[in-house]
Amino acid sequence: MPTVLITGASRGLGLEFVRQYRADGWDVIATCRDPAKAPELTATGAEVHALDVTDDAAVKALGRTLAGRTLDVLINNAGVYPLKGPQGSFGDIPVKPWMEALRTNVIAPWKVAETFVANLEQAERPVLATISSKMGSIGDAASPGSVVYRSSKAGVNMVVKGLSIELGPRGIICLAFHPGWVKTDMGGPNALITPEQSITGLRRLIAAATPADNGRFLAYDGQEVPW
Ligand SMILES: NC(=O)c1ccc[n+]([C@@H]2O[C@H](COP(=O)([O-])OP(=O)(O)OC[C@H]3O[C@@H](n4cnc5c(N)ncnc54)[C@H](OP(=O)(O)O)[C@@H]3O)[C@@H](O)[C@H]2O)c1
Repeated sequence: MPTVLITGASRGLGLEFVRQYRADGWDVIATCRDPAKAPELTATGAEVHALDVTDDAAVKALGRTLAGRTLDVLINNAGVYPLKGPQGSFGDIPVKPWMEALRTNVIAPWKVAETFVANLEQAERPVLATISSKMGSIGDAASPGSVVYRSSKAGVNMVVKGLSIELGPRGIICLAFHPGWVKTDMGGPNALITPEQSITGLRRLIAAATPADNGRFLAYDGQEVPW
């Protein structure tokens, strides 16, 4: 059975990825900051490892733990959305949460990719999927606010583009995804779709991805998202 590694799997979209891949019989390696506080994740029976993706030493240590294991799919899912609403509007935006967003949403996906590239290279058709957001689309931006989150997702889009240029020639298909506006802790109760709908769509795209898709930015329904 193929193997997938998913970051930020304690809840929300990460947890739904775990559930669906497990239901399909995949070997699932799931990471979360504190497994003791993630009972829904441990109940899936996935192989769980503690990992704060902003802790570079911990990322490298997990890399050593998983050395030699083939990864067919790696999903950079962990993410934060600090300063929603008025706090994140033009005026006096605090720097610390902005730095946290950049470390988690931008830098960590690149460091995770660096760490597990050898595991991906062992697979026949490896896919490196990074969960971005349409809110990071510069072409689509029209409304004010949320600059902390928006700038971090715009940043990770360049990370994915850079990874596609670095790793495409090594056979790794690198994709940026917009999961839709999804009912999770982050998306809130007014979101438009369920985690089941989002992840069903994203898994379909991952399963169908070919080297020709390397470097694309796609929504969960397969629509191209402007960078
Ligand atoms: N929901 C949406 O509408 C939506 C839309 C567009 C994009 N996205 C993106 O989709 C991804 C998943 O979002 P979600 O809706 O599932 O959000 P969520 O419900 O808030 O879950 C976020 C997950 O990321 C984990 N995480 C945060 N910081 C981490 C860190 N430093 N190290 C490890 N894990 C960390 C959280 O772990 P803890 O439990 O430890 O906090 C949690 O498992 C994110 O990248 C988000 O930006 C979501």
